[in-house]
Amino acid sequence: MISKSTIDSVFETARVEEVIQDFVQLKKSGTNFKGLSPFTDERTPSFMVSPVKQIWKDFSSGKGGNVVAFLMEHEHYTYPEAIKYLAKKYGIEIEETQQTDEQKEQANERESMYLVSEFANKYFQKILHKTDAGQAIGLSYFKERGFTNETIKKFELGYCLDDWDAFTKEALAEGYKLDYLEKTGLSIVKGERQFDRFKGRVMFPIHSMSGRVLGFGGRILTSDKKAAKYLNSPESEIYHKSKVLYGISYAKQAIAKEDNCYLVEGYTDVIQFHQSGVENVVSSSGTALTTEQIRLISRLTKNITVLFDGDAAGIRASLRGIDLILEQGMNVKVCTFPEGEDPDSFARQNSEDQLKEFLAENATDFISFKASLLMKDAKNDPVKKAALIRDMVSSIAKIPDTIQQEVYLQECSRIMDISEDVLFSTLAQLTKKGEQDQKRAAKKDQKSFKVVRDNQPNQEQQTIRRVDELHVLERGIVSA
Ligand code: CTP
Ligand code: MN
Repeated sequence: MISKSTIDSVFETARVEEVIQDFVQLKKSGTNFKGLSPFTDERTPSFMVSPVKQIWKDFSSGKGGNVVAFLMEHEHYTYPEAIKYLAKKYGIEIEETQQTDEQKEQANERESMYLVSEFANKYFQKILHKTDAGQAIGLSYFKERGFTNETIKKFELGYCLDDWDAFTKEALAEGYKLDYLEKTGLSIVKGERQFDRFKGRVMFPIHSMSGRVLGFGGRILTSDKKAAKYLNSPESEIYHKSKVLYGISYAKQAIAKEDNCYLVEGYTDVIQFHQSGVENVVSSSGTALTTEQIRLISRLTKNITVLFDGDAAGIRASLRGIDLILEQGMNVKVCTFPEGEDPDSFARQNSEDQLKEFLAENATDFISFKASLLMKDAKNDPVKKAALIRDMVSSIAKIPDTIQQEVYLQECSRIMDISEDVLFSTLAQLTKKGEQDQKRAAKKDQKSFKVVRDNQPNQEQQTIRRVDELHVLERGIVSA
């Protein structure tokens, strides 16, 4: 248990606007701060923070409260987790009253999974730096890739011994339960025996926005064709692949400051960029980007630059995913690297200035990029060209802002040499269809919302009560 005096000093020290700014981009608005709701998909900011009253209110979801309530809602922390997070942020020493065995056992499952992941993270780093095998195999691999000691430490890179169960044994000896080792996927249990999932791999821990370890990526070092090059933690209570972006905890401040986020494919691209002095970069870890991942970024900036490896097939396959970014009302640029290069190799071979200059010069607006690329494919084939026009307009239809849509249609008309009228009428057709689909989806949403309400009257009542209490405070915020 955390002592009362620790909790008191956390509340005395923590500033709600400082804490929230690590997660949501806030702009000054009178005596308050304003930003986009991190809980809904809104496009007009209705999330308010009052530094004077030390509270926040999200008008689109009705949620609100003090600094701890924010961390509980946003990071899904328990109360003690939120206090611990704040204590760490503000350098407050945590005074704990002794926990009994029973209390330890009661600590919830998620917390146990976080703890076992944190232990594994420390363990893999210890193996990398402190053992002969770790240094000879893991550390020398990272050095060969051009990572400095500082970089290796910053990203908490590690190594899992090439041994069937060295990690699992140590974790069990330290008192971590097999159940959580299995649930986090760190250990694989087969009957009476246990194996280390990441045997013989170098380790890349994956952190949440606030820096907690959620899972790992492990890279194989042998050229065994049958084994996957990268192995990742399985989906679990704490690791949801579609909701995390590799590097976000290291990048969040730079993304907000630069007002742009570079999106790359792999772990090593992110790390090499950081080492080269470009810190506003994250990776979707090789999978197609999801709406949840885009929303993580959109809390920090409205601008994304997608960086492609220099291979044409990959670029074409990725075009669809980019429509998802447009749908979120974000501005998208793309940048390709020379044939055979990826962001990692390019950053390694060039100086910081060269890299920054290359990115600035080669980042192209996505719509123009796509139109030019498809035009090259279609050449003078009229059938292909008709399909490409529909493809282009369907991307533009995803953009929520109508003025921006219009600018893009004009641009496309120029690049594809087709009249604006045709493009506008195609857009009108698509938009109409889109609206119908949306209405249908909205109806469905309402229905499922009702079901949830009926099933959970208590929770609902609680929410209403909390909202009532906040009502008075809210009015203060709005009129301030
Ligand atoms: N990836 C994965 N599983 C694989 C291959 C790739 O999860 N079997 C993910 C990893 O996150 C990887 C990213 O996809 O970082 C990009 O894959 P790739 O380009 O093959 O890897 P690189 O990052 O270039 O890896 P390396 O330079 O270490 O070969
Ligand atoms: Mn690579």
